[in-house]
Amino acid sequence: MKEVNSGDVLSLCKRRGFIYPSYEIYGGIAGLYDYGPLGTQMKTNIMDLWRSIYALEEGFVEIDSDIVGPEMVFKASGHAENFQDLMVTCKLCGEGFRADHLAKDFHPNPGALSKKELGELIVRENIKCPLCKGDLSEVEEFNLMFKTKIGPGSGRIGYLRPETAQGIFVNYPNLYRYMRETLPFGAIQIGRAYRNEISPRQGVIRLREFNQMEAELFVDPVDKRWPRFSAVRDNKVRLVPNTDEVEIETTFGEALDKGIIAHETIAYFLWVTQRFLTKAGVDPKRMRFRQHLKTEMAHYACDCWDAEALLSYGWTEIVGIADRGAWDLTRHMQYSQADLTAFKRFDQPQEVERKAFKPKYGLLGPEFKARSAKVGKALEAADISLLKDGKVELDVDGEKLSISDKYFDIVDVKEKVNGVKFVPHVIEPSHGLDRILYTCLEHAYTLGEENYVTLNLTVDAAPIKVGVLPLMGKDDLDKKGMEIDRTLRERGIATYFDDSGSIGRRYARLDEVGTPYCVTIDYEVFENGTVTIRDRRTTKQVRVPESEVVHVIEQLLHGRPFEELIAKV
Ligand code: GLY
Repeated sequence: MKEVNSGDVLSLCKRRGFIYPSYEIYGGIAGLYDYGPLGTQMKTNIMDLWRSIYALEEGFVEIDSDIVGPEMVFKASGHAENFQDLMVTCKLCGEGFRADHLAKDFHPNPGALSKKELGELIVRENIKCPLCKGDLSEVEEFNLMFKTKIGPGSGRIGYLRPETAQGIFVNYPNLYRYMRETLPFGAIQIGRAYRNEISPRQGVIRLREFNQMEAELFVDPVDKRWPRFSAVRDNKVRLVPNTDEVEIETTFGEALDKGIIAHETIAYFLWVTQRFLTKAGVDPKRMRFRQHLKTEMAHYACDCWDAEALLSYGWTEIVGIADRGAWDLTRHMQYSQADLTAFKRFDQPQEVERKAFKPKYGLLGPEFKARSAKVGKALEAADISLLKDGKVELDVDGEKLSISDKYFDIVDVKEKVNGVKFVPHVIEPSHGLDRILYTCLEHAYTLGEENYVTLNLTVDAAPIKVGVLPLMGKDDLDKKGMEIDRTLRERGIATYFDDSGSIGRRYARLDEVGTPYCVTIDYEVFENGTVTIRDRRTTKQVRVPESEVVHVIEQLLHGRPFEELIAKV
């Protein structure tokens, strides 16, 4: 088998209607791509597969939230402050570059370097503009969010979401109520997200507008067990732990027992991810999970694994599975003042110790005069997690007050309670849909003798499931073909009817777009009532009665091995 390169895959994608560079008639824009007819269908298929796993099998609920959001949401999420890359600009041609990309030949892990360290390295190594050899500017931070205004005139500052996750977090109180106030529960969202990448290359791997499929699982921080894990623990997995960064083959259970994977919930969703990716068409031999180094963890994550696929670009992240801890809900609680907690009822009332604000009434009195008693009561009732930068924001009679820590102490209090309020932790499997789709294409791409291209897409991902091919466009063969084609379509099976050109060329066209099966109607249909079904992977054919063809195709699409049909003949 010949080596595949991304150029060949992208050229097929364009030629056969999977993926087009956006705005091509105007010269195109880096990091923006459109899906063509086959790509759009394949994307829908991958989304449907993912939904069937998360929504149907795992019981997550799906939402669809806004793409544009007010600044406050992204201040709370940390993106306004932290979501940035370090860049340099060429003083001669004006082109911008990611500083760590320019430093990659001079440092083993330039992504982990600080702004100062990168600046020093660029000067020390005399790194120049890769396009025109011009001198480079100082290293600067560049926030990757697209900024806009919500409303006319001065408007409110808004951003296009850099991840779909925030739409789920800000809806937590609604979802918690909807789920009848029980944890754990999970919510999913599929949609567009936007990152104004500095100089996107690598085809559809780094996009400025991209599609995510994100799942946010809200769990009790003291209980990260997952009962169904026991059923999957013996499955094999390839891991690169962050301790020594060496790839190991183990089982999910063993990795958990040895403390390589932090807890059952992460381990279970690594397994779910592996199963989904394999069904979608990622080659299991070119897939592994790599644990993030502490230095590369996102600002919100406390443990994180990437599902990586081996592509012609090298190992590439296609899914991230992170334990985001209480980061998101705590921050949104601080910034919105809303209650984003969960309540756990005890079997018996229990005495608990907790930290609380103890108002200094002696100081509140002179400052807040008649309202000081109300401010004191509000402080006593406030949750300690609302403390931010030495201040707590309170709502007193509809007025927002910011109370600094000179007005209170933090003390331990004991009380008898029926239950406890807590901020749930979030476990997030986050999928880059475009990267997954591209991986399925590249892993499926097979170059045979005489440059014969076959896309070995899985049945789930393939945009066309069945080619319907009358041998001739005459003698009623075409009419028979159309009948079979119509019946398949009525059963919800995507077909492609083709009665023109040689049969070999028609198979080749369908192989090249990954069609798993072809039904060929030849003259035997009039002699003995049979047609053939051809299997793309083996190119073998079997004859089946015309009256059974739809049923057999349905069985094949649901996983019946083609070999079983051959054996029956
Ligand atoms: N929600 C994680 C990410 O967008 O990378």
